Amino acid sequence: MSTGQFGALGLHLADPRVEASVLGVLDGVEGQLRESVASADPLVAEASRHLVDAGGKRFRPLLVALGAQFGEPTAAEVVPAAVVMELTHLATLYHDDVMDEAAVRRGAPSANSRWTNSVAILVGDFLFARAADIAANLGPEAVRLQARTFARLVHGQIAETVGPRGSDPVAHYLHVIAEKTGSLIATSARFGGMFAGAPAEHVEALAGYGEIIGVAFQLSDDLLDIASESVQSGKTPGTDLREGVPTLPVLYALGSDDSDAASVRLREILATGPLVDDALHAEALGLLRESPALKRARETVRSYAEDARTRLAPLPQGPARRALESLCDYIADRTS
Ligand code: IPE
Ligand code: IPE
Ligand code: MG
Ligand code: MG
Repeated sequence: MSTGQFGALGLHLADPRVEASVLGVLDGVEGQLRESVASADPLVAEASRHLVDAGGKRFRPLLVALGAQFGEPTAAEVVPAAVVMELTHLATLYHDDVMDEAAVRRGAPSANSRWTNSVAILVGDFLFARAADIAANLGPEAVRLQARTFARLVHGQIAETVGPRGSDPVAHYLHVIAEKTGSLIATSARFGGMFAGAPAEHVEALAGYGEIIGVAFQLSDDLLDIASESVQSGKTPGTDLREGVPTLPVLYALGSDDSDAASVRLREILATGPLVDDALHAEALGLLRESPALKRARETVRSYAEDARTRLAPLPQGPARRALESLCDYIADRTS
């Protein structure tokens, strides 16, 4: 693996030295990831390699590698720290696809559809176990951070599952995505700085940045679920609508008082809950794609990406910080 990672992300890091260093970390991650999921049991080995091999953006390892640029990025703990983050993420994907009844992940059949729900859940558990094992080599602080991050993530998934229960739906949604996605991306950026030996105030700034860019990343994922084609995302578009997971464009549409016929019709369909009927699902997706609500949600993504940029203020100016800034631009206009 070389520049393919950035190709997959469509991201360019202007400085060749930072780029080479980041790619070096990501190369190391690929090798260790595959080693880490080895098992003597052929089913466990195959099912756990399944999504590792299917690819993915390696966004969390990227954050570790970028965070490490504020210290010594070749420090021995940086690559295993990134592997811990990617394995934790990967495990949540196995479980998430069971919950969302998703058939496609990373352009491949999801583990639940290729095998069964039980296999997907148990392989997800195996991946968590492998992450914990590697974290143990990094010391108790790494184990604690990984455990607390994972607890936050699970709280986010649970809060999403139970819904806002009377609280403001947009505030609830923003809380959910900070917990389920911001948490792990914050810890990824933190791990990068921490294991590269960056000064404490820089590590804190990296974590703050990671949290907000993580929220923006999830917001953009939710937009892509509406706006993208499956070939771009490697997932089935419209899954959130089908599962009745209300994301920001849907919440904006439901909360709007736009009186044009399309907006009124959209509200009428969305109010019915999970859209399992194919015709209604297609109609809602079409209306959402053209809706003012989607435009407004895009503005919200941009404002989070801008907020993330302001979190970089405590970090020294230079190519590493510019790389994190370019990530803000990438997220603001992300199309895959
Ligand atoms: C998917 O994460 C789940 C979200 C938090 C949006 P990614 O979009 O990073 O998935 P991969 O790793 O590239 O497959
Ligand atoms: C899941 O969010 C986030 C985590 C796995 C914690 P989504 O359900 O939006 O993720 P995708 O769209 O399936 O990747
Ligand atoms: Mg999902
Ligand atoms: Mg999604």
